[in-house]
Amino acid sequence: MNDLIAALGAELAELQALGRLRTRPVIDGPDDRVIALRGPGGRKVLINWASNDYLGLSQELTVINGARKALRGCGAGAGAARLLGGGLALHRRLEEGVARFFGTEDCLLTTTGFQANQAALVSLASDPEDVLIIDRLCHASTYDGARLAAGTLLRFRHNDIEDLERHLERTVGNRRRIVCVESIYSMDGDEAPLAAIAAACTRQGAILVVDEAHALGVVGPGGRGLCADLGVVPDVLVATCSKSLGSQGGLIAGAQPIVDICVNRGRSFLFSTAPVPAAVGAAEAALRRLRERPEMPEHLRIAAAGLRAALRAQGWQVPEGRSPIIPVIVGDEQRTLELAARLRELGHFAPPIRPPTVPEGSCRLRLTVTLAHRPKDLRQLAAAMAKLRPVT
Ligand SMILES: Cc1ncc(COP(=O)(O)O)c(C=O)c1O
Repeated sequence: MNDLIAALGAELAELQALGRLRTRPVIDGPDDRVIALRGPGGRKVLINWASNDYLGLSQELTVINGARKALRGCGAGAGAARLLGGGLALHRRLEEGVARFFGTEDCLLTTTGFQANQAALVSLASDPEDVLIIDRLCHASTYDGARLAAGTLLRFRHNDIEDLERHLERTVGNRRRIVCVESIYSMDGDEAPLAAIAAACTRQGAILVVDEAHALGVVGPGGRGLCADLGVVPDVLVATCSKSLGSQGGLIAGAQPIVDICVNRGRSFLFSTAPVPAAVGAAEAALRRLRERPEMPEHLRIAAAGLRAALRAQGWQVPEGRSPIIPVIVGDEQRTLELAARLRELGHFAPPIRPPTVPEGSCRLRLTVTLAHRPKDLRQLAAAMAKLRPVT
């Protein structure tokens, strides 16, 4: 092994010593509700509390059939990037369907949600005089998009409107100011004060980008997200097909010039093969399902509220909220790892969330409720959590 490779080994050993070495757990189906984890002790079937497939649609027959139909009709792969011969009618159809769903002029489909954020931010902040003002807790894809963009990256304190206003005031002379937030944050499940943020952007003439990855299908009328729920119209709405739509693919929705600039400047869109037809067919079927069953988000909210209340009653530190993301804040890393291991012994898969995913000292179990869970799963998880900490 040469010295450069050996140095990587030393870096990995350091992570291991810190208890932060990530490996790739192997899980098998049979579905989203339960997973089979293969490990040194053999195969163990666990209730899955780590899925973002909030509505359980990835396992619905109509969605699977949507994928099958697209696969049979168009083949396994798109074969090329969208502008170089990989653009199929079904890509365009999904874009038009999503634009109608959100009520925007157009939508651009990218291969993943990660690429959607990159394409949007690189396209909008294309000049060194541009500034990206990002909530501290935004997803890695927003930060990576901002780092790849020509503009300057500034962060504001999480959900702190005064801090945001300060940044906007200090950057008045810049060419373009782009404010990036999530509507529901992925690790805390808390909501952004979108009405106040949108008002600040309007006052200051800044562009507002809202990532609705964890809100699509979860809140708002018919699952249209938090912006729709609050009557906020962002300049750019980013979402993903990989969570509530149970498939894969990124979405950038907005006015025509927004979408067109991303088509022209979004490198992660331009230079990546178009989404595979099966994923697009599945996403289209999932969107149809959401339109047919607009009550699904409310059912999800009720199930999550029950678990949240049960855990709070047991004395766990669980913030209030209405999202299916339920963080159980533990703080200490070792204790979080122990709790996750104990839960596995009791039949539940809830991975520990630690730095760098969350800030130091805020380690947690992140439990996500989905419509695939049965009432007895929720009861069993609450009982297991009660065993790990006596009722206070
Ligand atoms: C807030 C947020 N944005 C974007 C993404 C990226 O989406 P995808 O998994 O489709 O790449 C994620 C997913 O992890 C996310 O949590």
